[in-house]
Amino acid sequence: MAIKQSGMNGHTGLATGDEERLLRIRGGQRLFGEVQIGGAKNAALKALAAAMLTSEEVVLNGVPLIADVLSMVELLRAFGAEVEVDGPRKRVAVRARQIDRTTAPPDLFRPTRASVVAAGPILARCGEISFTLPGGDKIGKRPIDMHLRGFQRMGAMVTTDGDQITASTPALTGGRIYMDYPSHTGTETLLMAATLATGRTVIANASAEPEVVWLGHLLNRMGARISGLGSPYLVIEGVDRLHGATENVLPDRLEAATFAIAAAMTGGEVKLHNVREADMLPISEKLREAGVEVWVWEDWMLVRPGTPLQSVDIQTLPFPGFPTDLQAQFVALLTQAAGVATVHERVYEDRLRYTDELRKMGADIFVARYGPNQERLATSATVRGPVQLRGARVEALDIRAGTSLVLAGLVADGETEMTEVYHIDRGYEDFVGKLASLGADIEDTAGTGQPVLAGR
Ligand code: EPU
Repeated sequence: MAIKQSGMNGHTGLATGDEERLLRIRGGQRLFGEVQIGGAKNAALKALAAAMLTSEEVVLNGVPLIADVLSMVELLRAFGAEVEVDGPRKRVAVRARQIDRTTAPPDLFRPTRASVVAAGPILARCGEISFTLPGGDKIGKRPIDMHLRGFQRMGAMVTTDGDQITASTPALTGGRIYMDYPSHTGTETLLMAATLATGRTVIANASAEPEVVWLGHLLNRMGARISGLGSPYLVIEGVDRLHGATENVLPDRLEAATFAIAAAMTGGEVKLHNVREADMLPISEKLREAGVEVWVWEDWMLVRPGTPLQSVDIQTLPFPGFPTDLQAQFVALLTQAAGVATVHERVYEDRLRYTDELRKMGADIFVARYGPNQERLATSATVRGPVQLRGARVEALDIRAGTSLVLAGLVADGETEMTEVYHIDRGYEDFVGKLASLGADIEDTAGTGQPVLAGR
């Protein structure tokens, strides 16, 4: 019955007073070997929500056993779904025979951004959903206005009372939805809602992120009628009901890329198993441009030293642009590359705060701050390299920022101590164990730090 999570609050994945938990990284080792990439966090979370669209069983294989997934499992259970988690086999089976409530428990809904995608299936299935504004990483404002406008376009009445939002309708109807920006979770939320709406829904300026496309294919296997996946125009013909399905979770391109960057910046040679070439294109091209040798064949990718690392500019954009979720890790690499690189963060208005932590390690990074009141908003940075980083005590500010600091620690002189380690547990399965298996000198003072799953 229980879900046990070491060093975490069982529901939120947040630290519970284990303030002293640290990652200790002693730099100087090159990474060598092979690593198995797991299922994608940002795909598994949405697939779990999609299971709420049907009373039949949805079985997911290759689910990453990370804190955010456990939070979503708890949320589904709170809505009345039976969820069986087979930890060793990384298999999660969801059966939502009925939905017991339409008000999301705030303590389960608020902690992660991904919770918002559960709103689409519940609204579609029950005609009502009430929830608090979701949280997630502190990387910008992250409103959900596009999700809510989409619900309205499908005939729902949306009311807001403080941070409590309610959407309701006797029956969702197809509508024409234009998104100001191709929001990733916005597209997923509306896509799921539209599968059970009456008539045709068109989503224009939809997200083409691989996780969105994968979710759309899963929904089609459950009986949905979605076309245009991967393009900015999605057309969804509503159906009366969806049925169960069994699916393997999409490989995690962000985990794969994080290991690829780690290999590249340590001058090591690492083979990554379970990758999809098309999903890796933005990062493999940038690595090549920086002088790294990258080989991709079928479902594996090999990263090894080419010429000495050279600076390259990056700007983050929706897929197939360079992913914002790899910006921090790539900046860690740029500290080791010769030259001056410009980094433009175009997705979130405040996703460069972690550079203060890298600077504590000696990184030469200048950040232009654009906040109207001189607040810490920053959208561009200049990184000069190469510099010899030195070990320091640093704080993980979010999932990706945390991994950036770990990568910096791998090439730093001396020992790096990273606090707020739970951020990494939220998105990476056995990050420390996998790095250690490649030869990194890294230790988690709380043991593995991985959530332990058991029971139903
Ligand atoms: N935005 C709005 N209004 C909306 C929705 C989004 O203004 O209604 C803005 C956001 O504030 C942001 C931009 O649009 O500036 C992009 O947001 P998007 O909605 O695309 O992001 P998201 O759906 O909240 C997902 C991932 C993020 C990832 C982004 C971009 C999940 C749970 N999260 O967030 O993942 O960075 O898409 O690909 O899928 C991570 O895994 O570390 C992570 C942060």
